[in-house]
Amino acid sequence: MIKSVKSLVQLMGKSNILEQVRYASQALPQFSSEKYHIKRKNFGTIESADIGFFKSILSEEQVVTDESDILPYNIDWIKNCRGQSNLVLKPKNTEEVSKILKYCNSRRLAVCPQGGNTGLVGGSVPVFDEIVLSFALMNNIVSLDDLSGSLVCEAGCILETLDNYVRERGLIMPLDLGAKGTCHIGGNASTNAGGLRLLRYGNLHGSILGIEAVKADGTIVDCLRTLKKDNTGYHLKHLFIGSEGTLGLVTKVAIHCPVLPNAVNLGFFGVESFDNVLKLFKSAKSNLGEILSAFEMADFDAINSTVNSLNLPKPISDFPFYVLVETHGSDETHDNEKLMKFLSQEMETGLISDGTVTSEPSKMKSIWNIRESIAGSGLTVGYVFKYDVSIPQKNYYDLVPRLKTRMGDKALLIYGYGHVGDGNIHINVVVPEYNSEVASLLEPYIFEEVSKVNGSVSAEHGIGFRKPKYIHYSKDPSALQLMKDLKQLMDPNGILNPYKVLPDGPN
Ligand code: FAD
Ligand code: MLT
Ligand code: ZN
Repeated sequence: MIKSVKSLVQLMGKSNILEQVRYASQALPQFSSEKYHIKRKNFGTIESADIGFFKSILSEEQVVTDESDILPYNIDWIKNCRGQSNLVLKPKNTEEVSKILKYCNSRRLAVCPQGGNTGLVGGSVPVFDEIVLSFALMNNIVSLDDLSGSLVCEAGCILETLDNYVRERGLIMPLDLGAKGTCHIGGNASTNAGGLRLLRYGNLHGSILGIEAVKADGTIVDCLRTLKKDNTGYHLKHLFIGSEGTLGLVTKVAIHCPVLPNAVNLGFFGVESFDNVLKLFKSAKSNLGEILSAFEMADFDAINSTVNSLNLPKPISDFPFYVLVETHGSDETHDNEKLMKFLSQEMETGLISDGTVTSEPSKMKSIWNIRESIAGSGLTVGYVFKYDVSIPQKNYYDLVPRLKTRMGDKALLIYGYGHVGDGNIHINVVVPEYNSEVASLLEPYIFEEVSKVNGSVSAEHGIGFRKPKYIHYSKDPSALQLMKDLKQLMDPNGILNPYKVLPDGPN
């Protein structure tokens, strides 16, 4: 039996920074069901005849029953949630997914779909003994039309692998996030992942052209079109985008890939106040216009604690706020001049206090690495309460100082960072270890505050296991009822990702 996550790391021999963060603590998290006082729903229990069935339709290595091998599938990335699954199935194609679900539905066996397991709201790991259905072996690229930019691939393709593939053919993936080296396109679709360039390329409801999914009863729903325009009735693909595996399992994705920009530039700026961050954003929109591809911000504590804990080089000295401005354009000289002009103009106005602009790939990578590492840096210190909320831009940062006052010395660190360009702030509260007293000071307080300004309790990470009881802060009862009706229609036995998204699912 595996006693600690550390021994698991040794087993797996992980080396990259995100994986190190993933297994930074030696302690296994408490079972989610105990931590959050959840009662198991009335699902079937796996028996040896069930294992026998799965072994009859899948090969030996696709049916994982060894406790040590299953452990990573039971624990989420931030080590908050831990399930108790005894079985991981790894289908290799859509037909196998269909057969598995048809059988599970007939036996009322609950299923937890899992992509790269980088989700931040506990949606990707089981709560009790749900069967984990991992998409790791469904990683084929089906086709790429480099004229239209439509890529068709299986759900288990890793985002970065896809990006590398399409880059070699003059395109890029329309989304980018810190978890790109691990997350799957199916997971991205199922969470409607936002990320670093949503400002420019929009969200996945726009970029995803088509989806193939399997319903709870095993029916394969083929909406895998690659057309930009297709108004033939209901746009059913949207049901699967962002529904976090509760309405169906995404098996293939058709996605539109924008053209690889000829010129990429990145600025990293120090800013004295949040008010100036907002003014700078307004100026970036008008001065950089069509080439603006990202506008990200992070406060001092977010950057400082990240560079210190991960020993990263800091591009400029200390400022209360930092802003990353990226451009994607077609003319290197023109774009670079534009960004340099923006920098010097805003240094004159005082909106930027110090800054650096680069188009050198290695320098851009190192700056992006700082921004992308914020997500995991707190985990090297302790436990992190993570919030992912949309707030009107004028109120974007208000919650951070308010939380600092509210929490006093109960938190080691509280910092804010995120996609200011689309109104999505991430607030991290770092504590030595999970503590229910701290949790009750933070929740529902944060969600109440977000609701007061008509924000969203989940901007991009989803509702998952952690937030069903808070969804009502952002969803009207009539909309919630329709969600439940859809769930009942598509998954009457409630076997798909139970205990997630909906406050009271069927069963
Ligand atoms: P998982 O974590 O495995 O699953 C996520 C949810 O989708 C679960 O509910 C799971 O059951 C379901 N699911 C997975 N695959 C399927 C499938 N094929 N069919 C049906 N359901 C499925 N998110 C953002 O939006 N923006 C960011 O900028 C961002 N940055 C991140 C940075 C880091 C370092 C980390 C660790 C996470 C970040 N995330 C971000 C969160 C996470 O990476 C995204 O939610 C991502 O889309 C999850 O993909 P995954 O393959 O890991 O899915
Ligand atoms: C990010 O923007 O870095 C991610 O959404 C992850 C996080 O919230 O930490
Ligand atoms: Zn984010």
